[in-house]
Amino acid sequence: MSSSIQSSPSQVRLVMSDAAALNRAAMEEFVRSANHAITDHDRFAVALSGGNTPRSVYSLIADNYQTSLPWNKVHIFFGDERSVPPDNPESNYRMARESLLSKVPIPDSNVHRVRAELPADQAAQLYSAELADFFHLEKQNWPRFDLIMLGIGDEGHTASLFPDSKALTEKSQLVVANWVEKFHTWRITFTYPVLNHAAEVMFLVSGAGKAAILKAIFDPAQNNVYPAQGVHPETGKLLWMVDAPAASLL
Ligand code: 6PG
Repeated sequence: MSSSIQSSPSQVRLVMSDAAALNRAAMEEFVRSANHAITDHDRFAVALSGGNTPRSVYSLIADNYQTSLPWNKVHIFFGDERSVPPDNPESNYRMARESLLSKVPIPDSNVHRVRAELPADQAAQLYSAELADFFHLEKQNWPRFDLIMLGIGDEGHTASLFPDSKALTEKSQLVVANWVEKFHTWRITFTYPVLNHAAEVMFLVSGAGKAAILKAIFDPAQNNVYPAQGVHPETGKLLWMVDAPAASLL
């Protein structure tokens, strides 16, 4: 059961009754997007988000589509990564491997991990080069992901674009190392141009703990205050998938 608030031709907000319904809807959108991309250009390039919210969605995808998605045509990237080795509990790659990648027949070469065990700046440069190679980019071109999944933090960050951080103003690099004062640590993150050149961006927001920040993000009087508000796909679709507890103040 969902209610839709069509806030503009390219931006849709779907409110699901609860987290279970949100997870199912997100799984279905992932699969729809994958099948559309594979039919259209024989591959699906998706950037996963990290944190906790998407873990259940990834598990649901693995449980329901282990054999019915052509995983050899799916390419997994990461919209951001913590500056830690891949076996670290903080690693977004580790979370995706545990919940999805270890359960589906995706070729290792289709999993494009951020080499976050390296110094953050070096990891970011290598990841930028990997995107440029995969998408056959010339100078000043941008990758067009078929789907980028994002979450929001309670202070309005998305990917690892945090308030008052340097990466917010990056307009020429694909991926950068970003110092996050809040956690006193480096992160590696896609920049806004990469997010905003995607064919589709899907935000997943769940739980009453996100109600206040979601209200603020959708408040016209607080425009351009929070990093998540900087995500406006230029020609792509922006989909906000939220559950009722997270939408309770809208
Ligand atoms: C990360 C994510 C980050 C996440 C938000 C929400 O590396 O943490 O990419 O942007 O989406 O912090 O995280 P939760 O889903 O855990 O609330």
